[in-house]
Amino acid sequence: MAMEIFVKTPGEIAKMRAVNVIVAKVLDACEAGCKAGATTWDLNEIADARMKELGATSAFLGYHGYPASLCTSVNEVVVHGIPRKDVVLKEGDIIGIDFGCFLDGYCGDSARTIAIGKISPAAQKLMDATRESLELAIAQCVPGNRLQDIGWAVQSHVEPLGYSVVRSFVGHGIGKAMHEDPQVPNYGSPGRGLRLKEGWVLAIEPMVNAGTPEVEVLADRWTAVTKDRRLSAHFEHSIAITENGPFVLSRL
Ligand code: CO
Repeated sequence: MAMEIFVKTPGEIAKMRAVNVIVAKVLDACEAGCKAGATTWDLNEIADARMKELGATSAFLGYHGYPASLCTSVNEVVVHGIPRKDVVLKEGDIIGIDFGCFLDGYCGDSARTIAIGKISPAAQKLMDATRESLELAIAQCVPGNRLQDIGWAVQSHVEPLGYSVVRSFVGHGIGKAMHEDPQVPNYGSPGRGLRLKEGWVLAIEPMVNAGTPEVEVLADRWTAVTKDRRLSAHFEHSIAITENGPFVLSRL
């Protein structure tokens, strides 16, 4: 199928704001549960309970067979870690929590990486650089800029710090479906690619590794880990491109 990028009306963007506010509230609840001694399954239960309270339905559960509502990606896990009762968080871990849901026909999607207690300076720097790279990417979400300006913003921030950008997973358009066109890589060349249009909504999600960019998927067919088993961090927001610039739908 040819690429088709849906332009959202102001009414649709209002609905996408509503669902992404729920995503942010669910992630806040999960973040509050990110403590040494908690299991990643506990976090999934928090996500499910808060999601139901807020009247939304999971975008992840059952997606290509994914078995939970939350992705919980600890340390060397890049993305798509499956919550488990036997994965217990401990001081010094970092955990990516990624959540998506539907409300009123529209999808929201966001992720953040959280420190468990006191973490190493190296882990803190990786998390900070990844969060900053997402903010720089968001700042590119202005009509008339180019799609690869987004990836370049990520890449040009983290590579000089010695980190690498994961290439085998990318961000995406989002709307009535969780994954819409276009794909949004976290690397690129400035001034290249499609012109960003008012009314597009993009989920931008840099995944940044301390070492090699290569990832491998474990036998559970979901858990993506760094090939060298060094740390990885992940942050994601859903952003509407408006005439007034970026509207970060998933930020309260
Ligand atoms: Co996403």
